[in-house]
Amino acid sequence: MPAIIILGAQWGDEGKGKATDLLAASTDNIDFVVRTSGGHNAGHTIVVNGEKFATHLLPSGILTPGATCVIGNGVVVSPEALFRELDALLERGVEPAPLVVSANAHVIASYHSTIDKVTERFLGKNKIGTTGRGIGPAYADKVNRLGIRIADLFDEKILTEKVEGALDVRNQLLTKVYNRRAIEVEAVVEELTSYAERLRPMVADTSLLLNRALDDGKTVLFEGAQATMLDVDHGTYPFVTSSNPVAGGVCVGAGVGPTRIDRIIGVIKAYTTRVGSGPFPTELFDEDGEKLWRVGGEVGVSTGRDRRCGWYDAVIARYATRVNGLTDLFLTKLDVLSGWERIPVCVAYDIDGVRHDEMPMTQTEFHHATPVYEYLDGWAEDISGCRTFEELPKNAQAYVEAVQEMSGTRIWAVGVGPGREQTVVVNP
Ligand code: GDP
Ligand code: IMO
Ligand code: MG
Repeated sequence: MPAIIILGAQWGDEGKGKATDLLAASTDNIDFVVRTSGGHNAGHTIVVNGEKFATHLLPSGILTPGATCVIGNGVVVSPEALFRELDALLERGVEPAPLVVSANAHVIASYHSTIDKVTERFLGKNKIGTTGRGIGPAYADKVNRLGIRIADLFDEKILTEKVEGALDVRNQLLTKVYNRRAIEVEAVVEELTSYAERLRPMVADTSLLLNRALDDGKTVLFEGAQATMLDVDHGTYPFVTSSNPVAGGVCVGAGVGPTRIDRIIGVIKAYTTRVGSGPFPTELFDEDGEKLWRVGGEVGVSTGRDRRCGWYDAVIARYATRVNGLTDLFLTKLDVLSGWERIPVCVAYDIDGVRHDEMPMTQTEFHHATPVYEYLDGWAEDISGCRTFEELPKNAQAYVEAVQEMSGTRIWAVGVGPGREQTVVVNP
C-alpha cells in the first residue's frame, strides 16, 4: 500500500494521531509521514507503552523509528512552534525522526496570531472559536498573494520586501479598524530570520521528494489534520478552519496527484465531538453529554477547551465518505459507549418538518437540523481489553455492524482505548 491518507471524518479530534501511529507501527516500512494542511492548530495524541505524546505541527510519525516526516506545501508553518515542539521532544529524551519542510509552505509569524485573536474579539458573540494560532490570517495572506514562504526566510532582502507588503495592509486594519498599535517590519524580519539557520538544512522540494519515493515503491502516509466538517469548502462554513482537510486537499497540500492515492481512511468517533462555535445537530446538553465528555476525556489537546459532545451522526459519516472517497473507516472510542442501555444514532435530519437523509444543501438548513434517531442496544462490559471482534459483547458487535451499514464504508478497525494496542481489526 504505497500511498495512504488518514483524515478526520467529523469535526476533528477523532483519533487521527492514534490511527497514524498504529498504521506506522503495524505496516512494514512506513517511509514517510506527511502533514499537508493546517498548522499548529492540530493536537494529535499518541499513547505508546502507556506514555502519552501530543503533536501539533509535527507529523505523528515523528516518533516512528525509520520514518521520515514531511511538512508539505499546504501547511502553514510557525517556525517558533516548530522548534518549540522539537525541543520539547528532545527534552523528553526522544530522538525525533528526520524532518523535511517544503520550501513553498507559508509562514505564520507572530502578527498572524495577533490578528487572529483581535479578529475573534471583534466578532464578539459571532466568533468562530479559533485556536488563536494565526491559521486563518496566514491562509488569507497566502490567497491574497501577500504571504511569506519558507524559502523567503533565506534572503533577507526579499523577506523584508514581503513583510513590508504584508504589513502595509495589515497595519491599516490593525490601527484603523481594530485600534491597535502597528507592527514593526524590522521586528518581524528579525523574528523570522532568527530561525533561518536552524531551518535551512530541513528545507526541500517535498513534492519532488514524495513523488520520487512513490516511484520507488516507498510507503507514504498522509496524516490529516482538522477534519471534513471543518473544511473551508465542505464543512460548516463559516465555522471551519481555513484550509481543505479533505482528501483532495491532501493532494494539493503535498504536490501529489490523485491517481497516486491507494487508500483513504476516515477516522470517526463512535460518537461526535466539536470544539469552537458552529452547528452540531446531535449535540447533547444533558447527563448523557456530560458522561460522554467525562468518560471520553473530551478536553482539547491544543487549547484545553472542553469539547462539545453528542451521539454518532451517520449522515455526516455518509457525507464524509462521499466528499473524501473513503475506502475505510477507523471507528474510535467505542469503549466510551460502554454502560448505556440503548444508544441513539442519528440516521437523518428533520429540517422544518421535512426528512433529509443526506446533508442539506445550505448552511441555513443545517442550522435548523434536528436528529432523527434509531436506537441500538447497548452493553455494560468494559471492552478496553478486547483485541478481536469476537471478544466484543454481541451488542457492541451489532453497533459496529449497524454503523458500518449506515455509513456506507467498511470499517477497517475499532478503537477500544487510547493505546496503540487497544485496537480491534474488523476487516484486515
Ligand atoms: P486527533 O486530533 O484526531 O489526533 O485526536 P486527539 O488526539 O485530539 O483526540 C483523541 C483522543 O482520544 C486522544 O486523547 C486519544 O488518546 C484518545 N483516543 C484515541 N482513540 C481512542 C479509543 O479508541 N478509545 C479511547 N478511550 N480513547 C481514544
Ligand atoms: P485536530 O487535527 C478540533 C477548530 C477550532 C475552530 C475552527 C477554526 O486535532 O483534529 P482555526 O484555529 O483552525 O482557525 O479554528 O476549527 N479546529 C479544530 N477542532 N480539532 C482540530 O485539529 C482543530 N483545528 C481547528 O476549534 O472551531
Ligand atoms: Mg486533536
